[in-house]
Amino acid sequence: MISSVLGEVDGTLAAPGRRLHRLGAIPGDGIGPEVLDVALRCLEAASRLFDFELQTTHYDLGAARYLRTGELVPDDELAAIGGEDAVLLGAVGDPEVPPGILERGLVLRLRTAFDLAVNVRPGRLLPNVPTVLKDLAPERLDLVVLRENTEGMYVSAGSRAHGGTPWETAVQLATNSRHAIERIAAFGFRLARLRRKRLTLCHKTNILVEAGRLWEQTVKEVAEEYPDVTLDYVHVDACCVHLLERPERFDVIVTDNLFGDIVSDLVAVVQGGMGLAPSANLNVDGTAPSLFEPIHGSAPDIAGRGWANPAGAVFSAAMCLSHLGELDAAAALEAATADVVAQLPAMGGAAMGCSTSEVGDRIIERLQGWANGAVPPLGTFTSSVAPAASGRRAGGEVETVPDRAAPLAKTETS
Ligand code: IPM
Ligand code: MG
Repeated sequence: MISSVLGEVDGTLAAPGRRLHRLGAIPGDGIGPEVLDVALRCLEAASRLFDFELQTTHYDLGAARYLRTGELVPDDELAAIGGEDAVLLGAVGDPEVPPGILERGLVLRLRTAFDLAVNVRPGRLLPNVPTVLKDLAPERLDLVVLRENTEGMYVSAGSRAHGGTPWETAVQLATNSRHAIERIAAFGFRLARLRRKRLTLCHKTNILVEAGRLWEQTVKEVAEEYPDVTLDYVHVDACCVHLLERPERFDVIVTDNLFGDIVSDLVAVVQGGMGLAPSANLNVDGTAPSLFEPIHGSAPDIAGRGWANPAGAVFSAAMCLSHLGELDAAAALEAATADVVAQLPAMGGAAMGCSTSEVGDRIIERLQGWANGAVPPLGTFTSSVAPAASGRRAGGEVETVPDRAAPLAKTETS
């Protein structure tokens, strides 16, 4: 039913020679429905141009449903979504709903129920996109943050004590299992092998010594199977500094759930803004569908005005195509979106010069140009989820794995 993490497809054939992919779509709240609508239109266009079929089912989940019925993700709907080949999510969150309810009851519920172990958050500064870092050349930011997506502080374990006294205390626990670390590290090494062959573990081993030691020890053990990839280490605070001062230092960053949440927002802003940043939540064992979403929130303040940049959602849709094995369509959609983004006078708001939906029209128009000609190589976003299936790198060459082992780099301490 489900394509494997590296994109080998076991798709049901719709008609002789035509591949069928079943998509679950969760528009969610705020700008979520607007950007997801554009992403779905782009996918439809890609399916016509690249000759595959999509069967999309919408799921009404999010703040409106919760406020209306008190429901978050009923079990039967969870099971139905679990039967899809992949899931696309717009955004979740609403000021009417207290913090934590939708985030835990919906977003984390899906991540946990579908065992979405690896959150892939690529960062690439696209040509002609303004960034907060003055004079940053696009080639200096091309990296992938891999965020462990099921554990850490996100397990919501803890307790409160001494309520009503000045000593009222909250304890919030994090879990870190060898299994989860091994899975994300193995994915990271395989991805790094197809990129610049450098993997950086990002943690805080000088303070979080229990968790940090397990992460460091486990990642080093996994590294032994990938001697052609250089492993190094940075503390998370130093990582933030390096991302601003010399982002070219990073290729693949592997990190824990909370650090990954924070670091990937920083990367998103440096690459031109939250509106541009895509993500994939991958089930790496093929036991449930993977989920693709822009990393921005629901932005209720601008909802309904046509001011949201749909690029993050469309890049996420391109990653979804790559994951499903539609590599030509994925590469073309990434390239078409990057071209359109490069022409925008601003990356969102009224200054964007056209509406959310018009950005979609332009992407679809550009996509048609790729359909009959030579397809561009997979870009940073789409190659980050389909490295082995593609057999080609972002530059288009066929992957080769060096036969001579390079020594492991010494672990850095900052
Ligand atoms: C993200 C978001 C989520 C997270 C929220 C909505 C639960 O910030 O995807 O980064 O914290 O993981
Ligand atoms: Mg976040």
